[in-house]
Parts: sequence; C-alpha cells; structure tokens
Amino acid sequence: TPATYPEFFTLNRSTAELRLLKSVDRELYQRFSLVIKAEQDNGHPLPAYSKLEIEILDENNQAPYFQQSSYRGFVSESSSVGTTISASANLTAPLAIIALDNDIEETKDPQLKITLNEYTSIFTITTSGITRFLTLLKPVDREIQTNYTLTLVATDGVQQSRPVTVDILVIDANDNTPTFAQVSYSVEIFTNMLPGETVLQ
Ligand SMILES: *[C@@H]1O[C@H](CO)[C@@H](O)[C@H](O)[C@H]1NC(C)=O
Ligand SMILES: *[C@@H]1O[C@H](CO)[C@@H](O)[C@H](O)[C@H]1NC(C)=O
Ligand SMILES: *[C@@H]1O[C@H](CO)[C@@H](O)[C@H](O)[C@H]1NC(C)=O
Repeated sequence: TPATYPEFFTLNRSTAELRLLKSVDRELYQRFSLVIKAEQDNGHPLPAYSKLEIEILDENNQAPYFQQSSYRGFVSESSSVGTTISASANLTAPLAIIALDNDIEETKDPQLKITLNEYTSIFTITTSGITRFLTLLKPVDREIQTNYTLTLVATDGVQQSRPVTVDILVIDANDNTPTFAQVSYSVEIFTNMLPGETVLQ
C-alpha cells in the first residue's frame, strides 16, 4: 500500500536492489508499506516474506553550518570537572558555539547533533539548544599539554557540516608569582639589641 507503489518502486528480481522510478510528493504520500517475497527458482514450494516500510521525509538540501569558521577557547588548569570553556583568557564569558541549518528558521532550535572528533575523554559539548558549550570531563594540566585542537561537526541526520576547529589554551593557574611589598629594604641594628630580637619583617 498504497496501490500506486509500482509507479514509484521497482525491485530487481535477482539482486533485490530496490530502485526509485520517479520522485515522491510528500503531500500525496508519507509512507509506503510493501511486502517482499523471496523464492528459489528451482520450484521449492516455500517462499519467504518480509515487510518493507518506506518513509517519505521532508526535502532537506541544506547542510548545517557553524556561525564561525573557527573558535578559540580558554580554560584554567585548576578548573574542576564540568567547567565550561571560556571565550577569553580572563575566563569571564563562556565560549558559545552556534550551528545553524538553513532548512530551519534561524530562531528555532535546529536540533542538530554536534560531535567532537578529538579528546572526547577530556571535553564534551552540550547536546541541546541553539547555543552549545564545551565542558570539561577531566581536569587538564598545563605541564602535560598546553593547547588542545578539536574539530566539531554538526549533522541534521542527513547532511553534515564542514568541520570547524576549536583551539583551547590551558591557562596557568599558578600565575600568582610571589612578590615583595618593597623593592629594597634597609634596616638599622642598635648595639644594645639582644640575640633573638626581630630585625625586620
Ligand atoms: C538486475 O541486476 C542485474 C545485475 O546488476 C542486471 O544485470 C539486470 O539487468 C537487472 N535487471 C533489471 C530488470 O534491471
Ligand atoms: C575579558 O576579556 C575580554 C576579551 O579580551 C574583554 O572584552 C573583557 O572586557 C574582559 N573582561 C574583564 C572583566 O576583564
Ligand atoms: C599552542 O598555542 C600557541 C599559541 O597560540 C601556538 O603558537 C602553538 O603552536 C600551539 N601548539 C599546539 C601544539 O597547537
């Protein structure tokens, strides 16, 4: 069903390759439900049957894309698991990653699946909403690695975006090097001072 299915589909009797004969209008047909029969050509009496459901999907000819061609992120090496990667070295704003799909109005969530191709044990990307964020799965140590270059790909289930790179720099948490309150000190010791007395702090 529907009975018009032979206008649209043909099955090669020897290879079982199913071919489309003409394009299907989704306004008229949303689904075809077919039964395929297989039988041996040596006259064996028992054929086998299988059901084949064909679903007609909306036309989707636009690949999703990222708003920026590359991203740069920052994370402090002291950050705990779950920390969001920042957009600037002062760690004041999260790095917002936006992927869009022209098949879907820009204000609507295109419900894309964004995949991370590298360092998947260290970073992860949030899975819903128009704006996505990268978060830490594992603390990072600048002594081990100072930058991570990741690639992200967005897919709408049919079409895939071109990959974008994200460079993440690990910021040193021990930037607070010790400093003296004064550049130089001078002190006078009187001859009557006793051993053990404080000279200077
Ligand atoms: C079925 O497939 C075979 C092998 O590709 C091909 O030789 C044959 O012509 C096909 N039959 C039809 C009816 O298309
Ligand atoms: C943090 O850095 C960004 C980019 O360099 C800058 O625009 C912003 O003003 C900075 N914020 C603070 C609080 O320093
Ligand atoms: C790390 O980042 C620095 C500064 O952006 C760059 O010069 C260097 O090539 C990067 N190293 C790696 C391994 O990506």
